[in-house]
Amino acid sequence: MNALTPQHLVAVIGAGAMGSGIAQVALDAGHRVVLYDAAPAALERGVAAIDGVYRRLLDKGRIDAATHGERMARLRPAAGLDELAGAALVIEAIVENLEIKATLLREVEALLAEDAIIATNTSSLSVTAIAARLRRPAQVAGLHFFNPAPVLPLVEIVSGKATSAHVADTLFATALAWRKVPVRCASTPGFIVNRVARPFYGEALRLLSERAADAATLDAILRDCGGFRMGAFELMDLIGHDVNYAVTRSVYDAMYQDPRYQPSLLQKELVDAGWLGRKSGKGFYEHGPATQRPAAPVAAPAPAPARVTVEGDLGAASALLGLAREAGLALDQADTQAGQPHGCLRIDDVTLALTDGRTATERLLGRDGDGAAVVFDLAGDYAAAGAIAIAVADGAPAGALQAATGFFQALGKRVHVIDDVAGLVVMRTVAMLANEAAEVLRQGIASAADTDLAMVNGVNYPRGPLAWADAVGSATLLRVLANLAAAYGEDRYRAAPLLQRRALSGESFHAAAGAAQ
Ligand SMILES: NC(=O)c1ccc[n+]([C@@H]2O[C@H](COP(=O)([O-])OP(=O)(O)OC[C@H]3O[C@@H](n4cnc5c(N)ncnc54)[C@H](O)[C@@H]3O)[C@@H](O)[C@H]2O)c1
Repeated sequence: MNALTPQHLVAVIGAGAMGSGIAQVALDAGHRVVLYDAAPAALERGVAAIDGVYRRLLDKGRIDAATHGERMARLRPAAGLDELAGAALVIEAIVENLEIKATLLREVEALLAEDAIIATNTSSLSVTAIAARLRRPAQVAGLHFFNPAPVLPLVEIVSGKATSAHVADTLFATALAWRKVPVRCASTPGFIVNRVARPFYGEALRLLSERAADAATLDAILRDCGGFRMGAFELMDLIGHDVNYAVTRSVYDAMYQDPRYQPSLLQKELVDAGWLGRKSGKGFYEHGPATQRPAAPVAAPAPAPARVTVEGDLGAASALLGLAREAGLALDQADTQAGQPHGCLRIDDVTLALTDGRTATERLLGRDGDGAAVVFDLAGDYAAAGAIAIAVADGAPAGALQAATGFFQALGKRVHVIDDVAGLVVMRTVAMLANEAAEVLRQGIASAADTDLAMVNGVNYPRGPLAWADAVGSATLLRVLANLAAAYGEDRYRAAPLLQRRALSGESFHAAAGAAQ
């Protein structure tokens, strides 16, 4: 697998946010770069943006003046497409429109050598469809950078139907040489990241539309309990609702309206209102210079429980036992069968259990209930989590909230009490992310290792969804999905066949894929 070397000329078409960033990445790696844009003013702005980045690096002492000058000397703004002729690699980052991209690339292709590679930075269009409009589709691939390209490490190397293995291999090796984290995937809607990440936004929007809690609370739970770098609402405000909603719609339509990807009316309302997030000063949050993010309400202090009885196996929440002991709580182990799947904690007459996708009310009052009056959420890491989400059943004993709050506060956690929704916040999000990742794997779109690598490097998830499924247990996530499907009666929560198989066999995704992550 041979990477392009700095001797190879790289051409970038489109000098906007992505094109100028990609040009900078290639300059940083030592290439000569030709940058072209149909709008001369945009080209000028793109070159100035790159120069501005280097000037800031210079001011911070990260590069010296000679490096700055030398890199800018390797950048050639092109007045016409013919100046791209000697390029070994052309990366297109123009407007997201199939016909416009294909028309441009057909023209470019005619100028290039037979073995030149044509890459598109498209986020949502079919690489197969773009390639099919050119004369040498085997030479065409997707090279999907994330914004800002010089900062974010992930690059999805997207193979269309006709892309040659050699071209994909060369791009992979080149991205590595450019100190990026490349992953390989097939040309399907959303590729890896924009597809697997849909439930992160989708479930949060659904929870908000059901008024499970306000946006600040749901964000706090995703961050401080789930371990995500940002909550879904602050992230959507950052991305821009026009962009985020358009991506969701495009994946939804491309998947023939599969309800898994259904867009949210709540987000459409924001787009319609022009509340696009940070860029318009308002989205789910206000973004004025002096405005502060609203605080997420937490439960009032409650006394620590005198005794806690542990019944059965707490499964993915077992770490709570060590934390409770460390906190000096008196724990009794009830005499139950070892390995009992539905473990719980009892404090006086109150039963607490990890959510299994049912509401607490269902567990307390439902026909097949197990008496749990309080359900608590999955944490990314119970020891590190600063907060926990809980929900209390309708008809719960009077002291239920107090008992559960006192227990988690004794462990040093802030307690967010949310409405009694199925699957709470983190558990439901992780189950849906893992479910989507399992579909990507089963359909041969990407490997388990690449899928997880993409989510960790592309959207900063604390761990890959498949590694998360391995840690929590596929059987646990499958049960959550089955209960969500029963609660909503919607196809949206149908379990991926591969997750069902892993749940039965107990095989892990990564061991099964032969990857060590
Ligand atoms: N912005 C992101 O977060 C992001 C992330 C990954 C991929 N992408 C993809 O990258 C591409 C560019 O996105 P962007 O955000 O940089 O857009 P942008 O609007 O900032 O820049 C696009 C540039 O392309 C130029 N252009 C338009 N039509 C052209 C043509 N026919 N020939 C030459 N130049 C032309 C425009 O003048 C403009 O300067 C799109 O395909 C987008 O989907 C964007």
